[in-house]
Amino acid sequence: MVNIAPSILSADFSRLGEELEAVEKAGADWIHLDIMDGHFVPNLTFGAPVVKSIRSKSGLYFDAHLMVMNPDDHFEDFARAGVDGITIHQETGLHLDRSITAIKELGLDAGISLNPATPVSTIEHLLPRLDLVLIMSVNPGFGGQRFIDYTLDKIIALKVLKEKSGWDFKIAVDGGVVPENAALLIESGAEVLVAGSAIFGKEDYRAAISALRVGL
Ligand code: DX5
Ligand code: ZN
Repeated sequence: MVNIAPSILSADFSRLGEELEAVEKAGADWIHLDIMDGHFVPNLTFGAPVVKSIRSKSGLYFDAHLMVMNPDDHFEDFARAGVDGITIHQETGLHLDRSITAIKELGLDAGISLNPATPVSTIEHLLPRLDLVLIMSVNPGFGGQRFIDYTLDKIIALKVLKEKSGWDFKIAVDGGVVPENAALLIESGAEVLVAGSAIFGKEDYRAAISALRVGL
């Protein structure tokens, strides 16, 4: 079954703890944490201290999506803050192999994210060691953007590679995920749907999460 990962980027930051409890009660599987540095992406969000302060509010899997330059400098801080997995961007990694090893050595799951224009082939050799591949289906930096259609091809390509090889990374999709495209995404191979505005932008979190799980 697909995992639904609400992105707290669209949550009410003044009530983060309550928002986490609410989505957990409403049936969320993971919590997606968008870490932005104002350099790799134009926006700034929050760092390890905030993650640490909300860790006790939820028993769900904490999935840290690092949209930052020099991500390796922050692995230990996020590990100490209690995240379960760290995903870095292919485009920020000069030494991706080393970064993946470092994340694994901290006992965390390791993922790589691809911007819309970055091909899957750029991470092919790392796939056997990855726990997650996060396909960005919008240009990272903001919530509430429109899904970029050609990124679906990359989800399908990853599914084919996964089936052929038996590697067990999960395929995640992030950006513009809405009930209207959820069924197609799942059918194409997405195993984790990250969604910000399609959950936190709604009144009824339970209905919003179910709508993503089954599609419209
Ligand atoms: C964008 C972030 C996403 C964002 C998705 O850079 O990585 O996780 O929160 O927001 P929606 O679901 O509103 O497109
Ligand atoms: Zn994200």
